[in-house]
Amino acid sequence: ILEQTNLLGKKIILRLDLNVPLDNRKIADTTRIDKILPTLEFLLKQNSKIIILSHVGRPKGKIVDSLSLKPIGEEIKKKLNEEVKLIKNNILEMNKNFLDNFNEKILLIENIRFYPEEEKNDLNFAKHLASLGDIYVNDAFSCSHRAHASVCEISKFLPSFSGLQLDSEISALKKITSEITKPVTCIIGGSKISTKIAVLKNLSKKMDTIVIAGGMANNFLRYHGYNIQSSLHEENVNHLIEEIINFSAKNNCKLVL
Ligand code: 3PG
Repeated sequence: ILEQTNLLGKKIILRLDLNVPLDNRKIADTTRIDKILPTLEFLLKQNSKIIILSHVGRPKGKIVDSLSLKPIGEEIKKKLNEEVKLIKNNILEMNKNFLDNFNEKILLIENIRFYPEEEKNDLNFAKHLASLGDIYVNDAFSCSHRAHASVCEISKFLPSFSGLQLDSEISALKKITSEITKPVTCIIGGSKISTKIAVLKNLSKKMDTIVIAGGMANNFLRYHGYNIQSSLHEENVNHLIEEIINFSAKNNCKLVL
């Protein structure tokens, strides 16, 4: 448990999900940043040096200027009133001592998906990331389904902990899995139905009702023949929608859009 670990003066590699929607390099929704502020505050109080790893968008292993973490670092700085240093150097040319050159307590490494090794869950890349710190903390719940180097492989090379936000997500999830009390309705949103099909199927076995909201609902509305115009949706997901509808009917789970 992170709260019971001696973190004094330690270099913490903190994987966050700072994948916020960017509109022309401006943050359109800061929710994901707001959520991880308590973790950063907690680590600052322990006098640790925080090395943040995160991605934003899908640059596919190439440097894409519009997908820089710069505006995100600035937002964290504003919200915490604490300097955040964006480090743009090639991570493969950095070592632990290099990071001592910076006095800031929070170092933000530029978009980790600029490196093709990240999404390949590359062992040597993960080993190198691990070599930059003393402790690894995953507070990126919404990335934890990805077998990527900074999420998965890195944890083999450092003492690894879940962050405060990840812990709170897990305890919330327990309320709809192992600690469930019926009758129960869940509201689920997001934009990518293709990555949530397994979750929806699983939930339909346990819920009495599922309310589908956000971008995900658009896909269903479109499937039912409504004109959603240019609203956010995914292409080629009708077969997934059919699967969810059939599966829910079989499990007596009501779907509400
Ligand atoms: C998300 O926004 O769902 C996470 O940051 C993961 O992003 P990805 O779907 O591009 O892996």
